[in-house]
Order: sequence, then structure tokens, then C-alpha cells
Amino acid sequence: MKKIGFVAALILFTVAILSTRYYMVDLPVYHFLGGGEVLDPATLHLQGEFVESNLGAAEGPSGSLTVRMIAQQFVFVPQCIEVPAGVPITFRMTSADVVHMLSFLGTDYGLKVVPGAVTEATFTFAKPGTFKIPCHEFCGAGHYAMRGQLNVVPPDRFASLLPGERRTCELR
Ligand code: CUA
Repeated sequence: MKKIGFVAALILFTVAILSTRYYMVDLPVYHFLGGGEVLDPATLHLQGEFVESNLGAAEGPSGSLTVRMIAQQFVFVPQCIEVPAGVPITFRMTSADVVHMLSFLGTDYGLKVVPGAVTEATFTFAKPGTFKIPCHEFCGAGHYAMRGQLNVVPPDRFASLLPGERRTCELR
């Protein structure tokens, strides 16, 4: 009977650890399942979709707009993005280290970002405005200072920006 108690305790302990440290096992689990796209957080900046020149807002061939961003301790890259108002914007994000959670203050929009995988969601910001993007998942010592910014601008203003200017903006 004692052995069963020990095994039960061990299982409970493991479940408790996994449930609080799930972000540390996310990556192996994603690799194991093979579902979705698997990225190596260590080489994000060097190759593939999330190289620096590919970050920020980019127009697709069909006129669709995609924003690519990396979350990492304790910044968003780019820190500030400019997008047009009233247009569906597809966010594609990943993490270079641990789990981060960004929320667009003043909206219901939020994104959980996990290392090794791409989080994708499409949001439309109806009106121009400035939205702070704080991190809402405790991610380490600099968590409380981790914030980006989204500038939603009138579509004609966005259209006048050069591709390089769409990648980043003045952080105010
Ligand atoms: Cu990133 Cu908290």
C-alpha cells in the first residue's frame, strides 16, 4: 500500500510541476507533436520568417497585411509598429525564450507567444490611435518594463510610408 501512496504522490508532484512550469515543456511538446510550425528560438534572428528584415508590417501579394514580431526578455522586436486603421491585420509572433503574453491596452485583443511556435491572430483596429502593448505573463526580472507600442494610423498615411518605415515607429 505504501508503494501506491508513493507513486500517487510522485504523479501528483509531476502534474503540479508541469502545470506551473508548462512553458518550459511547451517546446519539446510542440516538437513531439510535430503540429504547426516548429521554430528554433536560438536562430530566430538568423534565418527563416523572423529575420530582422522580415519584421514589422508587410503587405502580402493580395494586399493583406501581416505584422511579424518577436517577443523576448524583455522587449518586443520591433518595439513599435505602425498599421492602418480599419484593415484586418494578421499578427504572426513567436518568442525567443519563454512565454510572453501581450495585450493591446484599450482593446480586448491579446496574444500568447510561445517559444518554438508561431501564434497567429487577425485583429482589426477600427480607428487611429496609440496602443501600449504590455507583457502580461510573468517572464522574469524585466517583465514589468516589457512593453511595445502599436500606432494605428489612417490608411492613406500608412500607404505613404516606405517599407522600412512600416517596420518600426517612434516610441512615444
Ligand atoms: Cu514578457 Cu512578461
